[in-house]
Amino acid sequence: MARAPHEERNDEWLWGFWYPAARSSQLRRGKLRSAELLGIALALGRDAQGRAFALFDACPHRAMPLSCGGFDGRLVECSYHGWKFDPHTGQCREIPSLAGHEPLRVERIHARRFPCEERDGYVWVFLADPERPDEPVPPPPELPVFSEPYTRTHLQAELPCTMDNGIIGLMDPAHGPFVHQAWWWRSRHSIRLKEKTFEPIPDGFRIVPHEPSPNSAPYKLLRLYGYPVTTTIEFRLPNMRLEQIRCGPYWFSSRATVTPIHRERCRIDFVAAWNLFRWVPFVVPLFRAFGKRFIEQDRRTMELQAAGVARQPRMMLIDDADRPAKWYFQLKARYLEAKRTGAEPPHPLPGRVTLRWRS
Ligand code: FES
Ligand SMILES: [Fe+2]
Repeated sequence: MARAPHEERNDEWLWGFWYPAARSSQLRRGKLRSAELLGIALALGRDAQGRAFALFDACPHRAMPLSCGGFDGRLVECSYHGWKFDPHTGQCREIPSLAGHEPLRVERIHARRFPCEERDGYVWVFLADPERPDEPVPPPPELPVFSEPYTRTHLQAELPCTMDNGIIGLMDPAHGPFVHQAWWWRSRHSIRLKEKTFEPIPDGFRIVPHEPSPNSAPYKLLRLYGYPVTTTIEFRLPNMRLEQIRCGPYWFSSRATVTPIHRERCRIDFVAAWNLFRWVPFVVPLFRAFGKRFIEQDRRTMELQAAGVARQPRMMLIDDADRPAKWYFQLKARYLEAKRTGAEPPHPLPGRVTLRWRS
């Protein structure tokens, strides 16, 4: 029997997207550091002008990791035989062993390099589709912000799970009362019927902007401002959940991405910006403490689930609570199909769709 696209849970990675490789604060001028993204080892660095770069972490000569080499802020020097490379183009600039009589054209040798840009405090690396290495590189993602000044903070955690399990955890509406129990958020006793309308967006879907549910303390606090409150959550391929809350001139905007490091390991990167309650003392440490607890609850859940997943059981996705997860698998299958055939299959959401679940 043919499987529906959402049943093809093959954990295939998506190429042709930007992924966050490191926090900007982790890159120092004139220093190299290693990172891994979708199983690709990277040497990351920041040149003397402050520009970040990403090279494949294996020297084109005899594969010494370039991240073990030297960097004077201008050229990366391999620690094995001292070949030097331009960090942005990867072009070889010097081979110390050459005596001058060899026909070797040094400038024709390149270390593999990746498009690299900084946004929102992250170093983003574009991983082109290996079958389409010359496809145009789109601009990197950027967290929407709505006015200046604002406060911004970042959190992250490594998740011992495959990309798909990490991502469907991002948009799973039914785990909240069980995994994220807290007096200020929600408990099993606050479970009630939710009804949300979703609509398609390119490469994703979003909840149509609406009044937030009244059963959580943060939303009650927002009402103090006296403006109508609206919220929306959207998911975009390959790995991104965006949430926005608007309240008159006040706003909150966050983004969570789940990025594969290798097959069994992901990293969740969470960035939030807001101009709400900026006068409240300790608002950043408070927010970070709540955020860390939240992410730790998800991380722990993924860790426990990984033990079950390793037993390779059949898994289920049910309606309506797991419908966003089904859409994710369908969007992914559609993206891969469009790449293969050049013709884009229809979006999994034909238009607005209302889902009902209890959480
Ligand atoms: S391996 Fe890098 S210079 Fe030889
Ligand atoms: Fe969660």
